[in-house]
Amino acid sequence: MQTILIIGGAGFIGASLVRKYLSDKGWRVVVLEPETADLSRLEPFAGRIELVRGTLDDTALIADVIDRYGVVVAAHLVSTMIPGSSLEHFRRETDRIISPSASLFRLCAEKKVKLVFFSSGGTVYGNNGGRPHREDDIRKPISYYGLSKSIIEDLVYFEHRRSGLDYLIVRPSNAYGPGQKPGGKQGLIAVAAGKALEGEALQIWGDGKAVRDYIYVDDLTDAVFRLIEKGVSCETVNVGSGKGYQVNEVLSILGAHLDRPLKVEYVDKRTVDVDSIVLDCSKIGSLIDFHSTSLEEGIIMFTDSISKI
Ligand SMILES: NC(=O)c1ccc[n+]([C@@H]2O[C@H](COP(=O)([O-])OP(=O)(O)OC[C@H]3O[C@@H](n4cnc5c(N)ncnc54)[C@H](O)[C@@H]3O)[C@@H](O)[C@H]2O)c1
Repeated sequence: MQTILIIGGAGFIGASLVRKYLSDKGWRVVVLEPETADLSRLEPFAGRIELVRGTLDDTALIADVIDRYGVVVAAHLVSTMIPGSSLEHFRRETDRIISPSASLFRLCAEKKVKLVFFSSGGTVYGNNGGRPHREDDIRKPISYYGLSKSIIEDLVYFEHRRSGLDYLIVRPSNAYGPGQKPGGKQGLIAVAAGKALEGEALQIWGDGKAVRDYIYVDDLTDAVFRLIEKGVSCETVNVGSGKGYQVNEVLSILGAHLDRPLKVEYVDKRTVDVDSIVLDCSKIGSLIDFHSTSLEEGIIMFTDSISKI
């Protein structure tokens, strides 16, 4: 049996990755989460995972976990930022996430552990006039969040050049689906559903014509699992649907599947938001048999899941 360490495994995407790995009998799952973390998404997996309490910056603890459990893959799903985060937030991220990531990557290289980094397909590229973004496009982030992801990617490439780190960088588009909390701050579909449940208006920055690519969360984690199983090594891969939807179109699909009205208030556009993000997903299609759930089908599965909360 092989062991994967999932750092941030109680998060929205992390918990989906935990479920995917537990569905394969060949893998044991160890999750690292801070003492203060909300572990509710891990409740369905009680007794089936090893939970270690600690943070990304505790390199000695992570080294011990790698040795104790024989970890062969470490997945990094930790960020404290969102696209609207400020310079002040970026400073904190530098201390708590960016700098500790450099130590983690060095440790993984030393211990011959494959490192999987969840970057951001939605923010590392910036604006390019609306054409789908390819992995080899120049990174030109316009938000501190995208900048943080781009810097951490550079740390991965650096450690690969310096000491041969085996890595996989995934650049997901906007993930959505069951497990995303309607009361949260991130993710258009979940935030919009949360506002509708509270009977509040959803604020849209701009005219609602910004285009985004949406990936159903279980498709994302299934793709990551398959990339690792296939032994894809030292590659950076977009994981999205390859299709663009205007914010207004998404809200119209969501509104049709909610049992209460969705009120929208348009406010000024923010400088941190790119106009259009659609990921060119031909590379992942050439590496694995990649499935992408349609947005409507995914939204139905999401609204069904929140009606059970
Ligand atoms: N959600 C999306 O649409 C999306 C899209 C692209 C990329 N990403 C990236 O994927 C990753 C996972 O996203 P998510 O939506 O699941 O985030 P999330 O906030 O739901 O989960 C992050 C998890 O990391 C844990 N964590 C925070 N600080 C930590 C630390 N110092 N040490 C250990 N664990 C810590 C949190 O407790 C949480 O469980 C993030 O890096 C995010 O930037 C997310």
